[in-house]
Amino acid sequence: MLQEAKALTDKVALITGAARGQGAAEARLFASEGAQVYLADILDEEGEELAREIAAAGYVHLDVGSEESWKAAIGQITSATGGIDILVNNAGISHFSPLVDTSLADFERLLQVNLISTFLGIRAATPLMAARGGGSIVNVGSIAGMTGRANLSAYSSTKWAVRGLTRSAAVELGPVGIRVNAIVPGLIVTPMTQEAYGETAILERGASLPIGRAGLPRDIANLALFLVSEASGFCTGGEYVCDGGQLAGF
Ligand SMILES: NC(=O)c1ccc[n+]([C@@H]2O[C@H](COP(=O)([O-])OP(=O)(O)OC[C@H]3O[C@@H](n4cnc5c(N)ncnc54)[C@H](O)[C@@H]3O)[C@@H](O)[C@H]2O)c1
Repeated sequence: MLQEAKALTDKVALITGAARGQGAAEARLFASEGAQVYLADILDEEGEELAREIAAAGYVHLDVGSEESWKAAIGQITSATGGIDILVNNAGISHFSPLVDTSLADFERLLQVNLISTFLGIRAATPLMAARGGGSIVNVGSIAGMTGRANLSAYSSTKWAVRGLTRSAAVELGPVGIRVNAIVPGLIVTPMTQEAYGETAILERGASLPIGRAGLPRDIANLALFLVSEASGFCTGGEYVCDGGQLAGF
């Protein structure tokens, strides 16, 4: 009997923030589509457990805001595989506070984990992907990076910047075969939103969306799969909103 072709057979994929939430759903889906998936996170126990459960290629400790940590993680992966084809810059943190009460340290922490991380990831992956003739990078933005958001000024600023970085990288790296796109999630049920809003508020907010529900990590993973696979071969520099219609209007 013929085996159905899988979308990511033989591809080496690195997903940051993969111990839980959207990154975990992407790791699961990419592994089921034949990729050699490396999960990266700072939550080592959860990441290692998930890597075992989905028979991933491995788990690496990676603090995405640290240049040294990127060097070590990429070194570990390339010594095992020789390269990398797919990078999802998914790790991120949120921070809620009125602008005037936001400390410089908090603003800089958000920049480090949400934006500088994405720059470091793209820079680390580029030579490896170029050496293999190309690759696909997906950066994770937010609808908070498409509009202004009260009490989310630091987070929103980093997510707007991720879009600028995505477009600039796409223009520069297209000629070496690397596509760079951004996913723009709306309200997704993950530990991040469960901790920030609580289950009841998520359900209520979800019910008010045009689609009538909050998003699930799998909704984002499906979009990520499209963007890292050959099916999106002509897409680069794009911003792909997946928000149940929240930005469409009211
Ligand atoms: N959940 C939502 O509604 C929503 C909406 C828009 C955008 N996003 C974005 O989606 C991405 C994934 O978020 P999520 O909802 O799955 O959140 P989550 O908190 O459930 O998962 C985020 C993961 O990132 C990891 N992480 C945090 N700091 C890290 C660091 N310094 N180095 C490495 N890993 C680190 C965490 O340990 C965690 O495993 C984030 O970039 C987030 O900003 C989420």
